[in-house]
Amino acid sequence: MEETAKIIFEGKEYSFPVVRGSEGELAIDIAKLRAQTGLVTLDDGFVNTGSTMSAITFLDGERGILRYRGYDIAELAENSTFLEVAYLLIYGELPSAAVFDNFKKTITRHTLIHEDLKRLYDGFPKDAHPMATLGSMINTLSGYYIRDTSDPLDPVGRELSIHRLLAKTPTIVAFSYKKSIGHPMMYPKNSLNYIANFIRMMFAVPAENYAVDPVIERALDLLLILHADHEQNCSTSTVRLVGSSRANVFAAISSGVNALWGPLHGGANQAVIEMLDEIHKEGGGVKKFVALAKDKNSNFRLMGFGHRVYKNFDPRAKIIKKACMDVLDKLGIKDPLLDIAMQLEDAALKDDYFVERKLYPNVDFYSGLIYRALGIPTEMFTVMFALGRMPGWIAQWKEMIENPSAKIGRPRQIYNGHTARPFIPIAKR
Ligand code: COA
Repeated sequence: MEETAKIIFEGKEYSFPVVRGSEGELAIDIAKLRAQTGLVTLDDGFVNTGSTMSAITFLDGERGILRYRGYDIAELAENSTFLEVAYLLIYGELPSAAVFDNFKKTITRHTLIHEDLKRLYDGFPKDAHPMATLGSMINTLSGYYIRDTSDPLDPVGRELSIHRLLAKTPTIVAFSYKKSIGHPMMYPKNSLNYIANFIRMMFAVPAENYAVDPVIERALDLLLILHADHEQNCSTSTVRLVGSSRANVFAAISSGVNALWGPLHGGANQAVIEMLDEIHKEGGGVKKFVALAKDKNSNFRLMGFGHRVYKNFDPRAKIIKKACMDVLDKLGIKDPLLDIAMQLEDAALKDDYFVERKLYPNVDFYSGLIYRALGIPTEMFTVMFALGRMPGWIAQWKEMIENPSAKIGRPRQIYNGHTARPFIPIAKR
Protein backbone atom coordinates (compact mmCIF):
# COMPACT_ATOMS: atom_id res chain seq x y z
CA MET A 1 0.00 0.00 0.00
CA GLU A 2 1.27 3.47 -0.86
CA GLU A 3 2.46 5.37 2.22
CA THR A 4 1.06 8.87 2.52
CA ALA A 5 1.44 11.91 4.74
CA LYS A 6 -1.50 14.19 5.44
CA ILE A 7 -1.55 17.95 5.50
CA ILE A 8 -4.53 19.73 7.02
CA PHE A 9 -5.00 23.26 5.75
CA GLU A 10 -8.03 25.47 6.29
CA GLY A 11 -9.92 22.50 7.68
CA LYS A 12 -9.36 20.33 4.61
CA GLU A 13 -7.19 17.22 4.56
CA TYR A 14 -4.79 16.43 1.70
CA SER A 15 -2.67 13.29 1.18
CA PHE A 16 0.78 13.26 -0.34
CA PRO A 17 2.91 10.26 -1.26
CA VAL A 18 5.79 9.34 1.04
CA VAL A 19 9.01 8.37 -0.75
CA ARG A 20 11.33 5.89 0.92
CA GLY A 21 15.05 5.75 -0.01
CA SER A 22 17.07 2.53 -0.09
CA GLU A 23 18.51 3.35 3.36
CA GLY A 24 15.09 4.06 4.81
CA GLU A 25 15.22 7.83 4.38
CA LEU A 26 11.77 9.36 4.21
CA ALA A 27 10.41 12.28 2.24
CA ILE A 28 7.03 13.73 1.40
CA ASP A 29 6.61 14.21 -2.33
CA ILE A 30 5.09 17.70 -2.44
CA ALA A 31 5.23 18.20 -6.22
CA LYS A 32 1.42 18.56 -6.30
CA LEU A 33 1.13 20.56 -3.05
CA ARG A 34 0.60 23.92 -4.73
CA ALA A 35 -1.82 22.61 -7.32
CA GLN A 36 -3.94 21.01 -4.60
CA THR A 37 -3.67 23.45 -1.71
CA GLY A 38 -2.25 26.73 -3.07
CA LEU A 39 0.71 26.35 -0.70
CA VAL A 40 4.40 26.19 -1.52
CA THR A 41 7.05 25.04 0.94
CA LEU A 42 9.50 27.56 2.36
CA ASP A 43 12.93 26.30 3.36
CA ASP A 44 15.63 28.95 3.33
CA GLY A 45 19.01 27.39 2.59
CA PHE A 46 17.32 24.09 1.60
CA VAL A 47 17.93 22.82 5.12
CA ASN A 48 15.21 20.17 4.81
CA THR A 49 14.53 19.94 1.11
CA GLY A 50 15.43 16.99 -1.06
CA SER A 51 16.15 18.31 -4.54
CA THR A 52 16.51 14.96 -6.26
CA MET A 53 16.58 11.19 -5.95
CA SER A 54 20.18 10.05 -6.36
CA ALA A 55 21.98 6.70 -6.36
CA ILE A 56 25.51 8.09 -6.06
CA THR A 57 26.36 8.96 -2.47
CA PHE A 58 24.74 8.04 0.82
CA LEU A 59 25.38 10.25 3.81
CA ASP A 60 23.96 9.85 7.30
CA GLY A 61 25.01 12.86 9.33
CA GLU A 62 23.72 11.52 12.64
CA ARG A 63 25.61 8.25 12.38
CA GLY A 64 28.65 9.71 10.57
CA ILE A 65 28.27 7.45 7.52
CA LEU A 66 29.50 8.30 4.03
CA ARG A 67 29.32 5.80 1.17
CA TYR A 68 29.99 6.14 -2.54
CA ARG A 69 27.73 3.81 -4.53
CA GLY A 70 27.32 1.68 -1.39
CA TYR A 71 31.03 1.43 -0.53
CA ASP A 72 32.15 2.86 2.79
CA ILE A 73 34.46 5.87 2.51
CA ALA A 74 36.98 4.36 4.95
CA GLU A 75 37.27 1.18 2.85
CA LEU A 76 37.70 3.15 -0.35
CA ALA A 77 40.26 5.44 1.28
CA GLU A 78 42.23 2.44 2.49
CA ASN A 79 42.11 0.23 -0.59
CA SER A 80 41.29 2.22 -3.69
CA THR A 81 42.78 4.95 -5.86
CA PHE A 82 41.26 8.27 -6.82
CA LEU A 83 40.85 7.33 -10.48
CA GLU A 84 39.15 4.06 -9.57
CA VAL A 85 36.81 5.97 -7.24
CA ALA A 86 36.15 8.44 -10.06
CA TYR A 87 35.11 5.52 -12.28
CA LEU A 88 32.91 4.13 -9.50
CA LEU A 89 31.14 7.45 -8.95
CA ILE A 90 30.60 8.18 -12.62
CA TYR A 91 29.63 4.71 -13.85
CA GLY A 92 28.13 3.19 -10.72
CA GLU A 93 30.30 0.06 -10.35
CA LEU A 94 33.90 -0.76 -9.51
CA PRO A 95 35.66 -1.51 -12.81
CA SER A 96 37.22 -4.87 -13.72
CA ALA A 97 40.99 -4.76 -14.33
CA ALA A 98 40.48 -4.70 -18.13
CA VAL A 99 37.82 -1.99 -18.01
CA PHE A 100 39.94 0.12 -15.68
CA ASP A 101 42.99 -0.27 -17.87
CA ASN A 102 41.02 1.00 -20.80
CA PHE A 103 39.64 3.89 -18.76
CA LYS A 104 43.14 4.91 -17.65
CA LYS A 105 44.35 4.86 -21.26
CA THR A 106 41.40 7.02 -22.35
CA ILE A 107 42.00 9.56 -19.61
CA THR A 108 45.69 9.66 -20.41
CA ARG A 109 44.91 10.45 -24.05
CA HIS A 110 43.14 13.68 -23.08
CA THR A 111 45.55 15.25 -20.58
CA LEU A 112 46.91 17.95 -22.88
CA ILE A 113 45.12 21.28 -23.15
CA HIS A 114 44.92 23.19 -26.42
CA GLU A 115 47.96 25.44 -26.89
CA ASP A 116 45.67 28.43 -27.52
CA LEU A 117 43.95 27.81 -24.19
CA LYS A 118 47.37 27.97 -22.56
CA ARG A 119 47.66 31.57 -23.71
CA LEU A 120 44.64 32.48 -21.61
CA TYR A 121 46.86 32.15 -18.53
CA ASP A 122 48.77 35.21 -19.72
CA GLY A 123 45.62 37.29 -19.30
CA PHE A 124 45.63 36.64 -15.55
CA PRO A 125 47.76 38.67 -13.16
CA LYS A 126 50.50 36.71 -11.43
CA ASP A 127 48.68 36.80 -8.11
CA ALA A 128 45.23 35.84 -9.47
CA HIS A 129 43.48 33.44 -7.14
CA PRO A 130 43.79 29.97 -8.73
CA MET A 131 40.05 29.39 -8.23
CA ALA A 132 39.42 32.32 -10.59
CA THR A 133 41.77 30.72 -13.11
CA LEU A 134 40.29 27.24 -12.71
CA GLY A 135 36.68 28.39 -13.09
CA SER A 136 37.54 30.44 -16.18
CA MET A 137 39.61 27.69 -17.78
CA ILE A 138 36.93 25.06 -17.32
CA ASN A 139 34.28 27.37 -18.68
CA THR A 140 36.55 28.19 -21.63
CA LEU A 141 36.84 24.51 -22.51
CA SER A 142 33.32 24.83 -23.91
CA GLY A 143 34.72 27.29 -26.46
CA TYR A 144 37.09 24.59 -27.69
CA TYR A 145 34.75 21.63 -27.63
CA ILE A 146 31.36 23.14 -28.34
CA ARG A 147 30.57 20.62 -31.09
CA ASP A 148 30.78 17.76 -28.60
CA THR A 149 29.04 19.55 -25.75
CA SER A 150 26.29 21.67 -27.23
CA ASP A 151 23.81 18.82 -26.86
CA PRO A 152 24.25 17.27 -23.39
CA LEU A 153 21.68 14.64 -24.37
CA ASP A 154 24.08 13.19 -26.95
CA PRO A 155 25.71 10.21 -25.21
CA VAL A 156 28.85 10.24 -27.38
CA GLY A 157 29.64 13.91 -26.78
CA ARG A 158 28.76 13.47 -23.13
CA GLU A 159 31.25 10.64 -22.68
CA LEU A 160 33.98 12.55 -24.47
CA SER A 161 33.38 15.65 -22.33
CA ILE A 162 33.52 13.59 -19.14
CA HIS A 163 36.89 12.15 -20.15
CA ARG A 164 38.21 15.56 -21.14
CA LEU A 165 37.17 17.14 -17.86
CA LEU A 166 38.73 14.44 -15.72
CA ALA A 167 41.91 14.37 -17.77
CA LYS A 168 42.46 18.10 -18.23
CA THR A 169 41.66 19.37 -14.73
CA PRO A 170 45.03 18.30 -13.22
CA THR A 171 46.85 19.94 -16.15
CA ILE A 172 44.83 23.15 -15.77
CA VAL A 173 45.43 23.24 -12.01
CA ALA A 174 49.17 22.56 -12.29
CA PHE A 175 49.58 25.15 -15.07
CA SER A 176 47.87 27.78 -12.95
CA TYR A 177 50.30 27.04 -10.12
CA LYS A 178 53.31 27.29 -12.44
CA LYS A 179 51.97 30.55 -13.80
CA SER A 180 51.57 31.95 -10.26
CA ILE A 181 55.23 31.26 -9.42
CA GLY A 182 56.52 32.26 -12.85
CA HIS A 183 57.89 28.82 -13.70
CA PRO A 184 57.65 27.12 -17.10
CA MET A 185 54.65 24.85 -17.40
CA MET A 186 55.35 21.13 -17.30
CA TYR A 187 53.47 19.10 -19.88
CA PRO A 188 51.80 15.88 -18.75
CA LYS A 189 53.91 12.74 -18.72
CA ASN A 190 51.52 10.04 -19.67
CA SER A 191 53.60 7.11 -18.49
CA LEU A 192 52.75 8.23 -14.95
CA ASN A 193 49.49 7.54 -13.17
CA TYR A 194 46.88 10.27 -12.63
CA ILE A 195 48.17 11.48 -9.25
CA ALA A 196 51.91 11.11 -9.93
CA ASN A 197 51.48 12.95 -13.21
CA PHE A 198 49.75 15.80 -11.41
CA ILE A 199 52.46 16.02 -8.74
CA ARG A 200 55.14 16.09 -11.41
CA MET A 201 53.36 18.87 -13.33
CA MET A 202 53.14 20.86 -10.09
CA PHE A 203 56.65 20.43 -8.73
CA ALA A 204 59.09 19.33 -11.45
CA VAL A 205 61.19 21.82 -13.42
CA PRO A 206 62.23 21.10 -17.01
CA ALA A 207 65.98 20.64 -16.74
CA GLU A 208 65.97 18.38 -13.71
CA ASN A 209 65.07 14.79 -13.05
CA TYR A 210 62.08 14.49 -10.79
CA ALA A 211 60.92 11.43 -8.91
CA VAL A 212 57.49 11.51 -7.28
CA ASP A 213 57.67 10.79 -3.53
CA PRO A 214 55.35 7.81 -2.84
CA VAL A 215 54.34 9.30 0.55
CA ILE A 216 53.14 12.46 -1.17
CA GLU A 217 51.44 10.45 -3.92
CA ARG A 218 49.52 8.28 -1.46
CA ALA A 219 48.54 11.23 0.72
CA LEU A 220 47.17 13.15 -2.24
CA ASP A 221 45.34 10.11 -3.57
CA LEU A 222 43.68 9.71 -0.18
CA LEU A 223 42.71 13.38 0.12
CA LEU A 224 41.15 13.42 -3.33
CA ILE A 225 39.18 10.22 -2.62
CA LEU A 226 37.76 11.81 0.54
CA HIS A 227 36.67 14.89 -1.42
CA ALA A 228 35.30 13.05 -4.47
CA ASP A 229 31.60 13.45 -3.72
CA HIS A 230 29.31 14.64 -0.97
CA GLU A 231 25.78 14.45 -2.37
CA GLN A 232 23.70 17.63 -2.75
CA ASN A 233 26.03 20.25 -1.24
CA CYS A 234 26.22 23.88 -2.44
CA SER A 235 28.56 23.35 -5.42
CA THR A 236 26.97 20.06 -6.53
CA SER A 237 23.49 21.56 -6.35
CA THR A 238 24.85 24.45 -8.42
CA VAL A 239 26.18 22.04 -11.05
CA ARG A 240 22.80 20.30 -11.20
CA LEU A 241 20.86 23.57 -11.31
CA VAL A 242 22.95 25.08 -14.10
CA GLY A 243 23.04 21.75 -15.95
CA SER A 244 19.27 21.42 -15.63
CA SER A 245 18.90 24.23 -18.19
CA ARG A 246 20.90 21.93 -20.53
CA ALA A 247 23.80 24.37 -20.54
CA ASN A 248 26.91 22.44 -21.59
CA VAL A 249 28.81 20.40 -19.01
CA PHE A 250 31.79 22.77 -18.87
CA ALA A 251 29.46 25.69 -18.10
CA ALA A 252 27.69 23.66 -15.42
CA ILE A 253 30.88 22.46 -13.74
CA SER A 254 32.67 25.81 -13.85
CA SER A 255 29.66 27.14 -11.92
CA GLY A 256 30.31 24.42 -9.36
CA VAL A 257 33.93 25.56 -9.10
CA ASN A 258 32.76 29.09 -8.33
CA ALA A 259 30.26 27.88 -5.74
CA LEU A 260 33.00 25.88 -4.05
CA TRP A 261 35.22 28.93 -3.71
CA GLY A 262 33.40 30.54 -0.76
CA PRO A 263 34.81 30.18 2.78
CA LEU A 264 31.64 28.47 4.02
CA HIS A 265 32.22 25.68 1.49
CA GLY A 266 35.51 24.64 -0.17
CA GLY A 267 37.26 27.87 0.76
CA ALA A 268 37.25 26.72 4.38
CA ASN A 269 40.49 24.73 4.04
CA GLN A 270 42.38 27.90 3.13
CA ALA A 271 40.57 29.80 5.89
CA VAL A 272 41.58 27.15 8.46
CA ILE A 273 45.28 27.62 7.77
CA GLU A 274 44.93 31.41 7.78
CA MET A 275 43.16 31.14 11.15
CA LEU A 276 45.81 28.78 12.59
CA ASP A 277 48.51 31.09 11.28
CA GLU A 278 46.90 34.05 13.00
CA ILE A 279 46.69 32.14 16.28
CA HIS A 280 50.36 31.19 15.86
CA LYS A 281 51.38 34.82 15.24
CA GLU A 282 49.51 35.86 18.37
CA GLY A 283 51.51 33.43 20.47
CA GLY A 284 49.56 30.19 20.01
CA GLY A 285 46.86 30.63 22.68
CA VAL A 286 43.56 29.18 21.49
CA LYS A 287 41.30 30.47 24.29
CA LYS A 288 40.81 33.93 22.78
CA PHE A 289 39.72 32.42 19.45
CA VAL A 290 37.30 29.96 21.02
CA ALA A 291 35.77 32.89 22.94
CA LEU A 292 35.60 34.97 19.76
CA ALA A 293 33.85 32.15 17.88
CA LYS A 294 31.20 32.07 20.63
CA ASP A 295 30.72 35.83 20.67
CA LYS A 296 27.59 36.59 18.65
CA ASN A 297 28.77 40.19 18.18
CA SER A 298 31.79 39.03 16.23
CA ASN A 299 31.55 37.53 12.76
CA PHE A 300 34.32 35.11 13.59
CA ARG A 301 33.73 31.36 13.30
CA LEU A 302 36.10 28.52 13.97
CA MET A 303 36.96 27.58 10.42
CA GLY A 304 36.89 23.84 9.78
CA PHE A 305 34.23 23.37 12.47
CA GLY A 306 30.59 22.52 12.01
CA HIS A 307 28.69 21.00 9.15
CA ARG A 308 25.19 21.32 7.77
CA VAL A 309 24.72 17.57 7.72
CA TYR A 310 27.22 15.90 10.07
CA LYS A 311 26.08 16.38 13.63
CA ASN A 312 28.19 13.77 15.39
CA PHE A 313 31.42 13.56 13.50
CA ASP A 314 32.59 13.91 9.92
CA PRO A 315 33.93 10.46 8.92
CA ARG A 316 36.32 12.13 6.48
CA ALA A 317 37.79 14.28 9.26
CA LYS A 318 38.63 11.16 11.29
CA ILE A 319 40.57 9.65 8.37
CA ILE A 320 42.25 12.94 7.50
CA LYS A 321 43.40 13.60 11.05
CA LYS A 322 45.18 10.24 11.13
CA ALA A 323 46.62 10.77 7.63
CA CYS A 324 47.85 14.20 8.67
CA MET A 325 49.84 12.77 11.59
CA ASP A 326 51.24 9.98 9.36
CA VAL A 327 52.29 12.30 6.53
CA LEU A 328 54.00 14.82 8.79
CA ASP A 329 55.73 11.99 10.56
CA LYS A 330 56.89 10.24 7.36
CA LEU A 331 58.08 13.48 5.79
CA GLY A 332 59.80 14.45 9.06
CA ILE A 333 57.91 17.74 9.26
CA LYS A 334 57.18 19.46 12.54
CA ASP A 335 54.46 21.99 11.93
CA PRO A 336 53.55 24.28 14.84
CA LEU A 337 50.12 24.75 13.28
CA LEU A 338 49.35 21.06 13.89
CA ASP A 339 49.83 21.53 17.64
CA ILE A 340 47.59 24.60 17.55
CA ALA A 341 44.95 22.68 15.56
CA MET A 342 44.95 19.88 18.13
CA GLN A 343 44.70 22.33 21.03
CA LEU A 344 41.87 24.14 19.29
CA GLU A 345 40.00 20.91 18.62
CA ASP A 346 40.48 19.84 22.21
CA ALA A 347 39.31 23.17 23.63
CA ALA A 348 36.27 23.36 21.35
CA LEU A 349 35.16 19.78 21.96
CA LYS A 350 35.15 20.43 25.71
CA ASP A 351 33.21 23.65 25.37
CA ASP A 352 29.43 23.65 25.94
CA TYR A 353 28.83 26.06 23.05
CA PHE A 354 30.30 23.60 20.53
CA VAL A 355 28.90 20.51 22.25
CA GLU A 356 25.34 21.88 22.35
CA ARG A 357 25.46 22.91 18.70
CA LYS A 358 27.12 19.65 17.67
CA LEU A 359 30.05 21.42 16.07
CA TYR A 360 32.90 19.04 15.25
CA PRO A 361 35.98 19.32 13.04
CA ASN A 362 35.01 18.82 9.41
CA VAL A 363 36.99 17.59 6.40
CA ASP A 364 38.73 20.94 6.03
CA PHE A 365 40.13 21.15 9.53
CA TYR A 366 43.17 18.92 8.94
CA SER A 367 43.32 18.71 5.13
CA GLY A 368 45.09 22.08 4.83
CA LEU A 369 47.85 20.88 7.12
CA ILE A 370 48.49 17.93 4.81
CA TYR A 371 48.49 20.13 1.71
CA ARG A 372 51.00 22.39 3.46
CA ALA A 373 53.21 19.43 4.25
CA LEU A 374 53.06 18.36 0.60
CA GLY A 375 54.35 21.78 -0.44
CA ILE A 376 51.05 23.05 -1.83
CA PRO A 377 50.60 26.78 -1.16
CA THR A 378 47.60 27.93 0.88
CA GLU A 379 45.76 29.69 -1.94
CA MET A 380 45.82 26.42 -3.92
CA PHE A 381 43.92 24.45 -1.25
CA THR A 382 40.45 25.10 -2.58
CA VAL A 383 41.67 24.22 -6.06
CA MET A 384 42.81 20.87 -4.66
CA PHE A 385 39.33 20.38 -3.28
CA ALA A 386 37.92 21.13 -6.75
CA LEU A 387 40.29 18.59 -8.33
CA GLY A 388 39.00 16.01 -5.87
CA ARG A 389 35.35 16.95 -6.32
CA MET A 390 35.47 16.76 -10.11
CA PRO A 391 34.28 13.10 -10.37
CA GLY A 392 31.39 13.87 -8.01
CA TRP A 393 30.26 16.89 -10.02
CA ILE A 394 30.54 14.86 -13.22
CA ALA A 395 28.63 11.89 -11.77
CA GLN A 396 25.85 14.11 -10.42
CA TRP A 397 25.54 16.03 -13.69
CA LYS A 398 25.48 12.75 -15.65
CA GLU A 399 22.81 11.26 -13.39
CA MET A 400 20.68 14.37 -13.80
CA ILE A 401 21.04 14.69 -17.56
CA GLU A 402 20.39 10.97 -18.12
CA ASN A 403 17.19 11.10 -16.11
CA PRO A 404 14.38 11.40 -18.67
CA SER A 405 12.05 13.01 -16.13
CA ALA A 406 14.57 15.64 -14.91
CA LYS A 407 13.12 19.14 -15.00
CA ILE A 408 14.79 22.52 -15.12
CA GLY A 409 15.52 23.62 -11.54
CA ARG A 410 13.28 26.50 -10.58
CA PRO A 411 12.47 27.11 -6.91
CA ARG A 412 9.48 29.17 -5.79
CA GLN A 413 9.65 32.11 -3.39
CA ILE A 414 7.46 33.95 -0.95
CA TYR A 415 7.50 37.60 -1.96
CA ASN A 416 7.74 40.01 0.97
CA GLY A 417 8.37 43.30 -0.81
CA HIS A 418 6.01 46.22 -1.56
CA THR A 419 2.57 45.48 -2.88
CA ALA A 420 1.58 47.29 -6.10
CA ARG A 421 2.12 51.08 -5.96
CA PRO A 422 1.89 53.85 -8.54
CA PHE A 423 5.02 55.16 -10.25
CA ILE A 424 6.01 58.72 -9.19
CA PRO A 425 7.92 60.74 -11.81
CA ILE A 426 11.44 61.74 -10.69
CA ALA A 427 10.61 65.48 -10.48
CA LYS A 428 7.92 64.79 -7.91
CA ARG A 429 9.91 62.45 -5.61
N1 COA B 1 32.17 28.46 14.78
C1 COA B 1 31.33 29.02 15.69
N2 COA B 1 29.99 28.87 15.68
C2 COA B 1 29.48 28.11 14.70
C3 COA B 1 30.28 27.50 13.73
C4 COA B 1 31.67 27.69 13.78
N3 COA B 1 32.48 27.14 12.89
N4 COA B 1 29.48 26.81 12.87
C5 COA B 1 28.22 26.98 13.29
N5 COA B 1 28.22 27.77 14.41
C6 COA B 1 27.05 28.12 15.22
C7 COA B 1 26.19 29.17 14.54
O1 COA B 1 26.57 30.48 14.93
C8 COA B 1 24.82 28.80 15.03
O2 COA B 1 24.70 29.23 16.36
P1 COA B 1 23.26 29.70 16.94
O3 COA B 1 22.41 28.48 16.91
O4 COA B 1 23.56 30.21 18.30
O5 COA B 1 22.78 30.77 16.00
C9 COA B 1 24.84 27.26 15.08
O6 COA B 1 26.24 26.95 15.29
C10 COA B 1 24.35 26.59 13.81
O7 COA B 1 25.11 27.12 12.72
P2 COA B 1 24.49 27.41 11.29
O8 COA B 1 25.32 28.47 10.62
O9 COA B 1 23.01 27.64 11.41
O10 COA B 1 24.72 26.01 10.60
P3 COA B 1 24.72 25.73 9.05
O11 COA B 1 24.33 24.31 8.90
O12 COA B 1 23.92 26.75 8.32
O13 COA B 1 26.25 25.97 8.63
C11 COA B 1 28.51 25.63 8.19
C12 COA B 1 27.16 24.98 8.44
C13 COA B 1 29.51 24.56 7.73
C14 COA B 1 28.39 26.68 7.06
C15 COA B 1 29.00 26.32 9.48
O14 COA B 1 29.15 25.34 10.50
C16 COA B 1 30.30 27.10 9.30
O15 COA B 1 30.25 28.27 8.91
N6 COA B 1 31.48 26.47 9.57
C17 COA B 1 32.74 27.11 9.35
C18 COA B 1 33.12 27.03 7.89
C19 COA B 1 33.53 25.65 7.47
O16 COA B 1 34.33 25.00 8.12
N7 COA B 1 32.99 25.22 6.31
C20 COA B 1 33.34 23.94 5.71
C21 COA B 1 32.20 22.99 5.68
S1 COA B 1 32.76 21.40 5.10
